[in-house]
Amino acid sequence: MKIACLAGDGIGPEIMAEALKVLDALDIAGIELAHADVGGTAYKKHGQPLPPETLEVAKWADGVLFGAVGDPSCDSLERHLRPEQAILRLRQALTLFANLRPATMFPGLEDMSALRPEVAREIDLLIVRELNGDVYFGEKAIRTLDDGRRQGFDFMSYAEDEVRRIAHVAFRAAMGRGKKLCSVDKANVLETSQLWRDVVVETAKEYPEVELSHMYVDNAAMQLVRNPGQFDVVVTGNLFGDILSDQASMCVGSIGLLASASLGEDQTEYGTKGLYEPIHGSAPDIAGTGKANPMAMILSLAMLLRHSLGLEEQAARVEAAVAKALEDGVKGADLGGNSGTAEVGDAVLARL
Ligand code: NAD
Ligand code: IPM
Ligand code: MN
Repeated sequence: MKIACLAGDGIGPEIMAEALKVLDALDIAGIELAHADVGGTAYKKHGQPLPPETLEVAKWADGVLFGAVGDPSCDSLERHLRPEQAILRLRQALTLFANLRPATMFPGLEDMSALRPEVAREIDLLIVRELNGDVYFGEKAIRTLDDGRRQGFDFMSYAEDEVRRIAHVAFRAAMGRGKKLCSVDKANVLETSQLWRDVVVETAKEYPEVELSHMYVDNAAMQLVRNPGQFDVVVTGNLFGDILSDQASMCVGSIGLLASASLGEDQTEYGTKGLYEPIHGSAPDIAGTGKANPMAMILSLAMLLRHSLGLEEQAARVEAAVAKALEDGVKGADLGGNSGTAEVGDAVLARL
């Protein structure tokens, strides 16, 4: 069972260390680990954010455990050299088009939600974010118009097969949960969204048991804080999914809690090949202070065990240990507590 560890920048290595402690404690026979540089760290050492060796290690692995990339000192580099390109290229090169971002309220954490506890208590949703298309990967540039003005543009598009394959993932996820699917778009303004909606409706014919609804993204942002309990599975494009998942994290209590799995169609010997990462970034504002919450990273490891290695029992054990630590009041600064990164990791270990 091959795992690639790409810790990256900022708090990436700090939270990765805690996830690896958990992996070690599980004592799973036959795990092979490989580490590689990625992001700003890789740029500084090798002159590029995703060196070919790192891509090779990611291709070799059954599951990639990814920390975070992003370094303020790299923000004015040419775009193709910036740390963020590493994660975008990995998603593209491995055809990881389905990004699962679950957000569920942990018992005992209701008071930490940005929402009222009685509203927050109801949260149990899964955002299925398309990850290989949209305005992220279209033609983009800053150009100079004939009259001398600079213009920035990013081409937004979805081809029907790209929508269909993510719709199938979302419908199947809904079948395994509450059988409700809400497709979020902006079809009242965008043609890209109109096609999205048409294809989702076509795909729905194959899933008669799933109750399908559609919502404009502005309303979805509002409904997510008004009544998040109404959502079961949400399927949406790359950009809207990026934004709504950060928002969902604060409904649950902290961005330091939300894990994600990025999957494609490649199967490994044990499951589906995937990349697993917290939804948050490298948090440069707290990097090096020991304040980062490693729970999202640890929960990403649990998703890797489940989806790529077929180790459901171990995945559930890790998730239960995180939930128990939270229930027992183990909280980092992001949750109003004072446990440091390693302390939170140790508390999870103690409950495994
Ligand atoms: P961010 O998610 O890194 O941080 C936003 C805020 O949340 C910060 O105040 C940070 O301290 C806090 N935070 C994030 N994770 C936390 C954790 N585990 N524990 C406690 N607090 C946490 O977003 P940003 O500040 O907009 O971006 C910083 C850098 O990260 C940028 O370069 C950005 O491009 C990059 N980024 C990378 C990824 C990724 O690697 N997948 C995701 C998002 C942003
Ligand atoms: C995320 C991040 C990335 C994204 C960035 C770092 C490219 O925000 O994983 O949510 O926008 O997809
Ligand atoms: Mn994001």
